[in-house]
Amino acid sequence: MTIAFVGHGYVGLVTAAVFADLGNTVWVVGRTKEKIEKLKKGDPLIYEPGLTELVRRNISAGRLHFTLDYKEAVVPSNVIFIAVGTPSKPNGEADLTSVFAAAEEIGTSLVGYKVVVTKSTVPPGTGKKVSEIVNRFKPEGSSFAIASTPEFLREGTGLSDTMHPDRVVIGTNSDRAREILTELHKPIDGKIVHCNVETAELIKYASNSMLATKISFANAISFLSERVGADVERVLEGVGLDKRIGRSFLYPGVGYGGSCFPKDVKALIAIAGEHTYDFTLLKAVKQINDEARQNFVNKIVKHFGSLKGKQIAVLGLAFKPDTDDMREAPSIDIITSLLEKGAKVIAFDPIAMDKAKPKLPKSVTFAHDAYEAATGAHAVAIVTEWNEFRQLDLVRLAKGMKSLVLFDGRNIYEPSHVRDLGFMYYGIGRM
Ligand SMILES: NC(=O)c1ccc[n+]([C@@H]2O[C@H](COP(=O)([O-])OP(=O)(O)OC[C@H]3O[C@@H](n4cnc5c(N)ncnc54)[C@H](O)[C@@H]3O)[C@@H](O)[C@H]2O)c1
Repeated sequence: MTIAFVGHGYVGLVTAAVFADLGNTVWVVGRTKEKIEKLKKGDPLIYEPGLTELVRRNISAGRLHFTLDYKEAVVPSNVIFIAVGTPSKPNGEADLTSVFAAAEEIGTSLVGYKVVVTKSTVPPGTGKKVSEIVNRFKPEGSSFAIASTPEFLREGTGLSDTMHPDRVVIGTNSDRAREILTELHKPIDGKIVHCNVETAELIKYASNSMLATKISFANAISFLSERVGADVERVLEGVGLDKRIGRSFLYPGVGYGGSCFPKDVKALIAIAGEHTYDFTLLKAVKQINDEARQNFVNKIVKHFGSLKGKQIAVLGLAFKPDTDDMREAPSIDIITSLLEKGAKVIAFDPIAMDKAKPKLPKSVTFAHDAYEAATGAHAVAIVTEWNEFRQLDLVRLAKGMKSLVLFDGRNIYEPSHVRDLGFMYYGIGRM
C-alpha cells in the first residue's frame, strides 16, 4: 500500500519507518526545508533507539520518501495519517492548529478516494472538524473517509511498540476505510478494537490519564509512606502483586513528564469541563504530580537548611530514559527551583543535553559524565533513571564530592548499600 504521514516527530517518523519496513511505500510530509533535507539523508532528527538504521534501510530500499510538497505525498497514497503535534494551550486545551492546517493541505491535494486518519492525540469531535475542513478544500470529484487510529507507542521503545502494540484502535464510521486500515495493520500484532471516531479519540486520553493516575497514586502513597515510616517500594510490591491491580506504572518518583501525560491529563480535564463534567479525580492527579517534583526539592532544602552556595549535581534531564525528549521534563522544574533557592547546578544527561540547554536557565553548567558533574558537588540528585546511573562507581563518585549526599528521585539504589559507602541517602517514600 502507499501511505503518507504528515509530521515526522516521535510518532510520525517512527510509524512511517515501521510501515515502510513492512513493505509499504511511505511518504512523509514536513514543512521545514532543512529538516526534510536531513531526513532524506537518513538523519532522523530525534533520538529513538534503532530508528536511524530503520530509516536508512528503508530510504535505500526506495520505500521511504520525504517531501515538503503535500501533493507529492497525498496523490499516490491510499491512506494519509495526520501525526502532527497537539500541544497544550495555556488553558490546558489541546491546540489543534497544526491538525487543522494539515487537514486543509490534504483537502487541497485530494485526488480520487483517500482515507484521512488522525494519529495525533485529539479531543473527541476533532475527526468531524477535520472532515469539514477536508470537505471544504477538496477538489470536485475527489472523496474521502475519516478515521482515528490513536498511537500508543512509548518513546525509547517506539519501534517495538509500533510492531507489537497491546492493541490497535481503528475508529471510523466507514466500512471501506475500516477494511483498508485493517488490511494495512495486518502484520502488526495486537488486538484490533473497532469503534467510531469519537470512541477512538477518547480511548487515547482515557489510557494516558489512567496511567498518569497510577503514577500519582504511587506518589501519594509515597508521601504517606514517609509520614508513617513505611517503605513505599514494598508497599507497592504488595499492592501490585494483586492481579486486579498489577505493578506497572505503580512507581513513585519525581512525577510524570514528557510530551503526553501532562498535556493529555490537562486536555481531558478541559474536554470534561467543556461537556459540563468536573473531572475532580484528574485534577487531583495533576496536583499530586506537581507535589512530587516539589517534594524532591524539599528533601534537598531540608537536608541543607539553605541551598545558598551549595553545588548540586543533577543526573538525568530527559523526562525518562532512552529518549532526548525534554517536553515537560521534571528536571526543568526541579533545576529551576534549586537555582531559585540559591544552589549551583551541574547537570549531565547521556543523550538529552543539546535539547535541554535551551529549556534550562543559563546558569546551569553541563558536565561530560556523572563523575565530572559530581566533582565539587555537595550532593548528587538522580532525576532520570538512565541505566548508566544504576550502577555508578559510588566510591569514585565520592572522591570528588564536597559532602556525600545522594538524593535518589527514582529509588534506583538500595539505601543500605549507599549508606555503607558513607553517603547520606534520601529516596522517595522510604527511609
Ligand atoms: N511522543 C509520544 O510518545 C507520543 C505517543 C503517542 C501519541 N503521541 C501524540 O502524537 C502526536 C505527535 O506527537 P510527537 O511526539 O510525534 O510530536 P513531535 O513534536 O515530535 O512531532 C510533530 C511533528 O509535526 C510536524 N508538524 C507540525 N505542524 C505541521 C504541519 N502543519 N505540516 C506538517 N508537519 C507539521 C512537526 O514539524 C513535527 O515533525 C501528538 O498528538 C502526541 O500527543 C505522541
